[in-house]
Amino acid sequence: MIQPEHQRRAYLEALGIDVWLPRDEVGAQAEDVAETDAHAEIPTWDDLRAAVAACTSCSLHTGRTQTVFGVGDPQADWMVIGEAPGAEEDRRGEPFVGRAGKLLDEMLRAVGQSRDRVFIANILKCRPPNNRDPKAEESAACRGYLQRQIELIEPKIILAVGRIAAQLLLETDEPVGRLRGSRHQLGDTPLVVTYHPAYLLRSPSQKRKAWDDLCLATRLMREASE
Ligand code: URA
Repeated sequence: MIQPEHQRRAYLEALGIDVWLPRDEVGAQAEDVAETDAHAEIPTWDDLRAAVAACTSCSLHTGRTQTVFGVGDPQADWMVIGEAPGAEEDRRGEPFVGRAGKLLDEMLRAVGQSRDRVFIANILKCRPPNNRDPKAEESAACRGYLQRQIELIEPKIILAVGRIAAQLLLETDEPVGRLRGSRHQLGDTPLVVTYHPAYLLRSPSQKRKAWDDLCLATRLMREASE
């Protein structure tokens, strides 16, 4: 498992934020890390779901209708990771239920998968206001939950959809166009990057590339099952 402090720094760097802290914030940083370590101790899926539902680790909890834990099979071979809930997801408590979600469902169906068979989660479990990008402290506060979800699911393939998910998971600032189309690793798990369905709605000519990415993910998932 990646060391929390190392990962935290990478998250901040991926978001273009200076990682040097004034001395008086070092104590607060240590508390953050201790909190993230605590997520690793959450023993079961139900405990994790309850911990997410009760989370007040960052300011996003004040504006949420509810947390969006994720949807699908907790023993799925595929895990799809997006960015954060939008307005509709916040209302319904389920990820990817808007127009982009419908397209994601179609993309999954095209490779023989479905919302019920995969597990769909986001980097953030709470909606950022006005659908703005996650702040570094928000993704840092939430990352232990996603990490624990990945550990408990043990997916054979992770599909990161969109820039935010790809860059945060892979600790890079490379654009999606350069990250997609090849195999990456998240620990022991192969990871494929593709375009966010909301982007594909705006740029349908890129759907062909997304199809190639899903085919690659399918191939890697089969290889991992052999
Ligand atoms: N976009 C995302 O990245 N996640 C959602 O749940 C909805 C839209």
